[in-house]
Order: sequence, then structure tokens, then C-alpha cells
Amino acid sequence: MQKNKHDEITSRRTFAIISHPDAGKTTITEKLLYFGGAIRDAGTVKGKKSGKFATSDWMEIEKQRGISVTSSVLQFDYAGKRVNILDTPGHEDFSEDTYRTLMAVDAAVMMVDSAKGIEPQTIKLFKVCKMRGIPIFTFINKMDRQGKEPLELMEELEEVLEIQSYAMNWPIGMGKEFLGIYDRFNERIELARPNADEERFLPIDDEGELAVEHSMKETSYYKQALEDVMLLNEAGNDFDEERIAKGDLTPVFFGSALTNFGVQTFLETFLQFAPEPQPRLTKDAEYVDPESDVFSGFIFKIQANMNPAHRDRIAFVRIVSGEFERGMTVTVPRLSKNFKLTQTTQFLADDRETVNQAVAGDIIGLYDTGNYQIGDTVISGKANFQFEALPQFTPELFVRVNAKNVMKSKQFHKGILQLVQEGAIQYYKTLHTEEVILGAVGQLQFEVFEHRMRAEYHVEVQMETMGSKVARWIENEEDVKESMAGQRALLVKDRHDQKVFLFENNFAMRWFQDKFPDIKLYNQL
Ligand code: G4P
Repeated sequence: MQKNKHDEITSRRTFAIISHPDAGKTTITEKLLYFGGAIRDAGTVKGKKSGKFATSDWMEIEKQRGISVTSSVLQFDYAGKRVNILDTPGHEDFSEDTYRTLMAVDAAVMMVDSAKGIEPQTIKLFKVCKMRGIPIFTFINKMDRQGKEPLELMEELEEVLEIQSYAMNWPIGMGKEFLGIYDRFNERIELARPNADEERFLPIDDEGELAVEHSMKETSYYKQALEDVMLLNEAGNDFDEERIAKGDLTPVFFGSALTNFGVQTFLETFLQFAPEPQPRLTKDAEYVDPESDVFSGFIFKIQANMNPAHRDRIAFVRIVSGEFERGMTVTVPRLSKNFKLTQTTQFLADDRETVNQAVAGDIIGLYDTGNYQIGDTVISGKANFQFEALPQFTPELFVRVNAKNVMKSKQFHKGILQLVQEGAIQYYKTLHTEEVILGAVGQLQFEVFEHRMRAEYHVEVQMETMGSKVARWIENEEDVKESMAGQRALLVKDRHDQKVFLFENNFAMRWFQDKFPDIKLYNQL
């Protein structure tokens, strides 16, 4: 029987997994896909290295560098829920892409390596989630290895990230002595390595102790865990669903993605508390309800040439409200133009499939011939509104770039235009000579740019490093005179023809501001 629209929408759970590289994001994603039946064997998909990981492994450079630089979207069903995982690249140079992906989710799972604790990239990503006020679920990984003490990890979480925590479970030993977890939430103990004739889950009695005879009871690990749990019961935070929903309290799960321990319990509990698709604000400060009759969504990512054989370009849309049906006509208010959506995809673990129907909470991919831009709103019918703008990140590194072969100038400009629309690099030009300057958050983005220009547009580029600069836009552009610019304060235009100063450093910027106090500079984010 077909579900009705309400049931369809409320069954969606759309989230991202955030972490510092190597915390185990790929590994846990595989395990989740396995539980969702999207892959057959929990051990077969080896993300970055074997190249089987669907959409997150399409770029050659990823294989060369052994890193994951693109986001992918994966979908599966579990326990009556339709799960959408937006994978985010772990490498710090790609944070801009990652940040935008976080604008399209309703919750985040934060992976922490138990030996390393809270790492720099985790902090950055966490802050973006916190700013959005979305719920954050923490998975402390690699309990099969010797790591930091669990209490120390909880303390670090609260001190470094300034978020309160609630331990959903507690490890009993760790590394070689990892016996299992004390599951506070489900009131049971889960054994890490049950004997053949043993149950995996053991009950807990009213005193909070193991209710059955077991050799574990005599171990110091069990006694320590029990002591810690008592301490948490008395002095720790209370479980509070409302505070979790606001992102003020993070439920913490200990486990091991690699040995697949604690992942299923995590998934089940997560799905119970992760929010269904949430309303979203428009530029006019009105909320759009997911169950509204109007189909609406916004583009948070554009990717060219996902499959080099097809040279296609895909705009990723997070559906905010209503239902999508293949063949429907939508408007992009920025362009005041209609599009008939016939070529669309959704993302399953193994394949991109044509999608016929999708609802609020889902992500669909629209084939794009160069019309869409990141941040665009798409809506059906006569509705006319735009969602709040996505944050733009101010680039810090700049290069001057041109085609080695002037005969290739047309492909050069086409390639740059497409890659800029994807949002991976930002485009500037000098005022009169119109030399192209590119800006990025990290060096690796330039390498990817160079590689893709060669591989996809057959253009060899020449890049001249300009080093780091402080980019500032100008509120009162009309008051800017070219004579204000100089070696230390380059005046350029961005791709919307807005003037931007590229200062040599903060010192140069302050000097400029002292000299021209009437010029109002601002930073994008
Ligand atoms: P990432 O996507 O967050 O970057 O991390 P990924 O899953 O690739 O995991 C990074 C490394 O950590 C991998 O080892 C992976 O096998 C290991 N790992 C992940 N979860 C666990 C865990 O629960 N316990 C232990 N002990 N290790 C874990 P690698 O040696 O770098 O890669 P590979 O050679 O296994 O591919």
C-alpha cells in the first residue's frame, strides 16, 4: 500500500556525518548502508581505496591522493524510515563544500576518534552545526583500540565544544580488553564478543547491575564502568529530548565502526530521535512547512562531470516542501524562468537511479546545462519566494591564472565558469586588464582545479601564486576610487561585478581603514 504524503515526509531522516579525517566516517557509513540493505557485505565496500563507493569516489585525484574530496548522497530504508546520508569530504581544504552540505541536513552525526579526542576539523564543522541549531549526535569510535578514558572524552567534548552531553552507553574496558557496552538508554549490556551459546544482550536489574551471572562481573573493567555510570546518573546531565532537538545536548554513543560494534544500536536510537524534515526560512523571514502543497527546494551543490563518460553536470536539490514528480515544471525565481524537470536522479549506494518521486527531506539531482547556481530556490506552481541565502566563505588564497595556449581561451573560460558555478573556487578579475584571479579556501582546491581543467576541458593552465590575501567587499562601492588601491590593496571585481579589495594582510587592511575611514568594508563569512 502506498503511504500518504504525510507519512512519506515524516519518515525522512536527512543528516550528515562530520569528523576530522580518519575518525572513521567512511567505515561507519559502510556499516549503516549494510544495515539498510544497500550493500550486501559489511566488509566489501572500502570507500576511498577500492573505488566502489559510488558517488564519493569519482574523481581521479581522489584516487591519486587517497582522500575524499566530494560529497555524495546515499539513501536507504531502515525500520520504516527513509534515511538520506549526505557524505561530507573530510579534507580541510574542502570545508566550503562541506559547510554548504550542512545547510541541507536536519541533523549531524559527529564521529570522534577515541584516541585523538576532539580534533581541529571536528571543531570547525561542529560550529557550523551549532550555528544552525541542528541536533548533533556523537559517536566515539575505535573502542576496540586503546584510547583516552571515557570520562576524559566526555569532559573534552563539553569543554572544547561547549555542548552538554548525555552518555547513552558506556564502554566496559577498551582495546583488547573491550568487553562490551553498558547501554544506559536501553537498560542492557551488549557483549563485544559473546560466546557461541551466549546472548548478545544481557539484562540489567533495578540496581543498575548485570541481572545474570557472568564472568564479566569479576573484572575491574565492569566494576569501573558501573562506578562511572553511577557517577553519571548522579552528577551528569539528564536525558532531555527537547534539548537534543535544539542542539543544546548531544547524546553520546561509544562503539567501534570497524568491528561493527554498537553501530546498529546507534542507528536505531538515532532514528528514534533525529528530526523529521524541518521548516525552512525564506528571505522574507517566513517558514516553509515541509507538508505544504507547494514543491520547493534549494540547490546546495553543483557538480560538473560526475561521470566523465557522460560529461554531465548535476545540481543537488534539498527538497524543503511538498512532493517532486518527474516531468513537473518548476520556477527558479532568480531567473524568473521555468524548467521542466525530466532528467533527475537520486542516489543509492551502488547506482544513480532515475527518480520519479521524492518528498521533503529528500535530495534529488537535476541535470543541468548551466542554468543553476548554488543557493538557487526551485518552486512549483505560482508560488514566488526564495530561501535564505547560503553562507559564502571568504577565500584566503589567490592565484593568477591563464591558459598556456591562447588558442584554448574559449575552453579555458568555459571550464572556469562551470567550476566557479560549482562553488569550489571563486572568480575575480582585475579592473581594466580583466586578468583572471581565483580564490580558494585551501591550496588543494587549486590542484583540483588544474587537474580538472586538464582532464575535463583539455586546457593546460598556468597559475601564478599570489599567496594569502584578506578579501573584503565594500558597502559603499560608489565612494571607492581607483587611486585608493595599490600593491598592498588590490582592487578587483568578483563574478557579480562587485568591487573587492584584496589586502596583503590584516595590517594592510587596518592601515587602509585608518586612511579611508569612510569606506565600509565587510567580510562575507
Ligand atoms: P574517514 O572516512 O573518517 O577519513 O575514516 P575511515 O573510515 O577511512 O577510517 C580511517 C581509518 O580508521 C581506517 O584505517 C579505518 O579502517 C580505521 N577505523 C575506522 N573505524 C575504526 C574502528 O572502529 N576501530 C579501528 N581500530 N579502526 C577503525 P586505515 O588503516 O587508515 O585504512 P585502511 O587501510 O583500513 O583502508
